[in-house]
Amino acid sequence: MTDYDAIVLGAGAAGLFCAATAGQRGKRVLLLDHAGEAGKKILISGGGRCNFTNLHTAPDRYIAGNAHFAKSALSRYTPADFIALIEAYGIAWHEKTLGQLFCDGSAKQVVAMLLEECAKGSVTVRCGDATGAVEHADGRYRVDYGSHCASAPVLVIATGGPSIPKMGATGFAYDLARKFGLKVVQPRPALVPLTLPGEEALFRELSGVSTEIVARIDGGKAAFREAALFTHRGLSGPAILQISSYWKRGDTVSAQFVPDRPQGWLKAVKRERPRLSFRKAMGDGLPERLADALAARLGLEGEIGNLSDKALAAAEARLARWPFLPDGSEGYAKAEVTAGGIDTAELSSKTMESRKAPGLYAIGEAVDVTGWLGGYNFQWAWASARAAGLSI
Ligand code: FDA
Repeated sequence: MTDYDAIVLGAGAAGLFCAATAGQRGKRVLLLDHAGEAGKKILISGGGRCNFTNLHTAPDRYIAGNAHFAKSALSRYTPADFIALIEAYGIAWHEKTLGQLFCDGSAKQVVAMLLEECAKGSVTVRCGDATGAVEHADGRYRVDYGSHCASAPVLVIATGGPSIPKMGATGFAYDLARKFGLKVVQPRPALVPLTLPGEEALFRELSGVSTEIVARIDGGKAAFREAALFTHRGLSGPAILQISSYWKRGDTVSAQFVPDRPQGWLKAVKRERPRLSFRKAMGDGLPERLADALAARLGLEGEIGNLSDKALAAAEARLARWPFLPDGSEGYAKAEVTAGGIDTAELSSKTMESRKAPGLYAIGEAVDVTGWLGGYNFQWAWASARAAGLSI
């Protein structure tokens, strides 16, 4: 049995950063991961370039049972702080869109940086051993891994959520939290493509077609103006992934097609170019196959000049809020993150330590804080990891 000051379970984004932070403060830290290498999700993130933060990070871009919980950690470790670290390592980066920052080169640089930060803190990193029993007695947490055993007064749960199980993702964080008496908010796949039932087959024929929409949940406040993609199973693309995090079974997702048109635009086209076909009038700005499918569904054909103002007003209203009733999502196999998780009511927002189990911390995606698409989830991983790493 080897003694440490802290054992961090999970060498993903949060675990690596937490271990490095605590190690550099002189703590003896053991960082464990059952996968063969550290930071596997970082390596595949952002298409291999890791969208490591977002300039527009703010608490309202996170979904959580307690909307205030993330404020403290996010304000104490900001995108500017992480950019400073990236730059200290000479990693070149660029803003792609909507405040999303990516490496110019490769996500491997981010993992190498985090491992180097761990090395600077003399962190012991062990990957590839299955995690065995985790017990707490006499003020110390004891963890079996492979054929080894370690103990420490502090245990940090940084094992993420179950999204993308084929990469080693598990619900272990929740099992562990429950074992030590912490509540877990029902986890669900988020940032995930939505599936459409059989009667929406017309849209499935559009598989591969993409267009800009504003996606909303009927009755909800969230709205995302980004690309949507029709797939053979339903809907995907950034706008849909974003809204999926707010979606519950039974909710209608609405798509606003051709978002920039003023009220009465179809009637204006009718006046100005009455010989234009309805499909062409509507299709300006829409991919042709999608315009065909929408016109067919609206049942409007022929020259726009022959259509009544009432029919055009109804078409406009439908195009502004085209309803889709998904029958599910593509699940954890395709979900970029897991919403829900360890209940924030159980944790200190300053330190991420459990209120019930002293010395037990939870950080990153394991916690019930889920960011929007676009670097927000990594920023939460860094910020929550920093808060814990400074406290242990
Ligand atoms: P993370 O999942 O990174 O790490 C958990 C670690 O725990 C893993 O290494 C796992 O092997 C280990 N583990 C699990 N069970 C264990 C056990 N029983 N014992 C020991 N170890 C165990 N976000 C973003 O902000 N920008 C982006 O570009 C992307 N891109 C992206 C692409 C894809 C394909 C996915 C799936 C996800 C993203 N994300 C993202 C989300 C982002 O990857 C995610 O939010 C963070 O990795 C969460 O960091 P954590 O450290 O909390 O968990």
